[in-house]
Amino acid sequence: MTLVKACTMSDLEDGEIFKAELADHAPLALYMIGDEIFATADICTHGEASLSEDGYIEDGKVICSWHDGAFDIRTGEPCRLPCMDPLQTFPIRIEGDAVFVEI
Ligand code: FES
Repeated sequence: MTLVKACTMSDLEDGEIFKAELADHAPLALYMIGDEIFATADICTHGEASLSEDGYIEDGKVICSWHDGAFDIRTGEPCRLPCMDPLQTFPIRIEGDAVFVEI
């Protein structure tokens, strides 16, 4: 497990998805829901959609606009077809203004 800085708190907005470009890892999608932050893989498991670019948050889920599939942001579990495979999730750690993910 490696701790990698993904962004700063000012990059995140409540209800929005931020794409974290990492040096040695595929991009991640970071979500701010109220005062909580979550991270998942950025690419939808159904296709090649970038959830940070083509997705949106609704009731704790990320909806992929390509085919209207959905995942639970907290667990990565698919919750609406055509998505069937879970999204990988990553623990978050906040230190000061920095947001780190464990990868
Ligand atoms: S690519 Fe995301 S639902 Fe199809």
